[in-house]
Amino acid sequence: MCGIIGYVGNKNASSILLNGLKNLEYRGYDSCGIAVLNKELQTRKNVGKVSEVAKKENFLGLMGRMGIAHTRWATHGGVTKENAHPHLSNNKKIAVVHNGIIENHEELKKFLKNKGFNFYSETDTEVIPNLIEYEFSRNQDFVQACKKALKRLKGSYAVLILSAYFDGVIASRHESPLVIGVGDNEFFAASDIPAFLEYTKKVVYLYDYDFVVLNKNIKIFNLKKNEEIKVKISSIDWSVSQAKKGDFEHFMLKEINEQVETLKKALHQDKRVLNKIVTNLKNAKNIFFVACGSSYHAALTASYLFSSIANKQVNVMVASEFPNFNHFINKNSVVLAISQSGETADVLESVKYAKQKGAKIISIVNVMGSSLVRDSDEFLLLNAGPEICVLSTKSYTSQVVLLTLLAYSLVKKYEEVLKKINYLWNVVYYLTSENMKTKIKELARRIKNKEHLFTIGRGLEYPTAMEAALKIKEVSYIHAEAFPGGELKHGTIALIEKNTPCIVFVSEKNKHLIISNATELKSRGAYIIGVASVNNPVFDFWIKVPETNSFNPITQIIPIQLLAYELALLRKCNPDMPRNLAKSVTVK
Ligand code: F6R
Repeated sequence: MCGIIGYVGNKNASSILLNGLKNLEYRGYDSCGIAVLNKELQTRKNVGKVSEVAKKENFLGLMGRMGIAHTRWATHGGVTKENAHPHLSNNKKIAVVHNGIIENHEELKKFLKNKGFNFYSETDTEVIPNLIEYEFSRNQDFVQACKKALKRLKGSYAVLILSAYFDGVIASRHESPLVIGVGDNEFFAASDIPAFLEYTKKVVYLYDYDFVVLNKNIKIFNLKKNEEIKVKISSIDWSVSQAKKGDFEHFMLKEINEQVETLKKALHQDKRVLNKIVTNLKNAKNIFFVACGSSYHAALTASYLFSSIANKQVNVMVASEFPNFNHFINKNSVVLAISQSGETADVLESVKYAKQKGAKIISIVNVMGSSLVRDSDEFLLLNAGPEICVLSTKSYTSQVVLLTLLAYSLVKKYEEVLKKINYLWNVVYYLTSENMKTKIKELARRIKNKEHLFTIGRGLEYPTAMEAALKIKEVSYIHAEAFPGGELKHGTIALIEKNTPCIVFVSEKNKHLIISNATELKSRGAYIIGVASVNNPVFDFWIKVPETNSFNPITQIIPIQLLAYELALLRKCNPDMPRNLAKSVTVK
């Protein structure tokens, strides 16, 4: 959902900002723009991907040692040059880039129109520079004017402000991600760390209502408390190469391959924190897992494992639906929130509700310093490194393995998972090998022109079928739907025609029933793709995946991640940037 970056230092801002935009493009790729200050404010923006727009508008032609930039995922207003950021105040002296949604923008627009201001875009953002201009006209103190203007905003924002009135960059956040990078005599402010990772690994995480003044120094105030905050610098252990494609053509393929390592890293946890979480889960009167998208599928997978391994019942909720069940939450509840980014708006909202009711909040998250980490009583990090591709691949399997560890830990079988991971490592190595890729390419060629595809599973394999369908549809745009094997005869089988591809996930435990479902599908003409440890006459295409029992959700999804990737390439879709999608969904 939009990426923003700002820079103040001694270097030429435009090249740093452009680099940052390229690293943030996974957050939105509808349009982009840049503003640089060199006594006067210079702004350039347009519709299109970062590299195209930067070339067309000659971003690098802007000279100055401070600036702000934005890559947009459209929410309010269509994809047009006028709606692209930065947005300027009427007097063109103040530029703003913004990620989030200003809920009271209509009201503020009306107020400003009455004061004589005009609006040139359909965005909610345009009220911000004009509100600052209005406040500045009343009291010629620019920092105070920014504070006053921001205090009037309702909704979510991460904003960067650049102005001919001020020698620096102002940054502020409320319910949208923003982190500060601290270099040698230079500062960065960005939606996400990869934007400035190649310049510094020193960061300052911000809290809601933090207001940051960046020039030769850094000062942080809290807008709500009206006080200055002590600057706390943390170090991050992500490496630059983790945030680069390296020899891979796409981040998606790189991140699928990384699973050989990331699964092990997910298990590197502080035993004391883990034990504390296990105690909380044991003592809870009710447990809720809340998450969205792939993270929701990981949660659903875990609910089967909590049931079968730990005999624990869990309520699994799509975060946006959680408010409907909020009244079951009390101080004896545990809400376990699962999120790669730690910034998904619906997850954060669920956690907020649950906190108000006194529930214990535990989270499983990949991004250190994210809002979810700060809102949790306890958290476990996935340690998967930055995930740049919009699709979740390595973070999904890391979530599943970590949740599996929790399920086993509940029955004091923690060591068992650690032992099994070495076997799993070999399996994942085979699943990401060149042989497997060749096989999957062949399958992709066979089904690339299909419009519909179905995935089925039973028990633990049902959430895997859901995740498989999501991966395929979001990156190749083939309509893909998942069903529990037992549901087919209740309606869906009517959709099966000659050669409709159906991916069937088979486990040792469910093999008889699911093979019987596959046979029913085949008798209606379906083309059966079996994901199974042994071949079966019903399969038209067999993907061999060794049986790993409670780890099947990890091993069985990997070939389908590869299939989704290959389908995207064959259908000329960009695997790293699927249409209409952005990496973190920071608005509801
Ligand atoms: C799918 C995908 C999304 C995310 C979802 C939640 O490949 O990536 O469905 O899983 O937007 O995001 P997080 O995990 O950051 O809360």
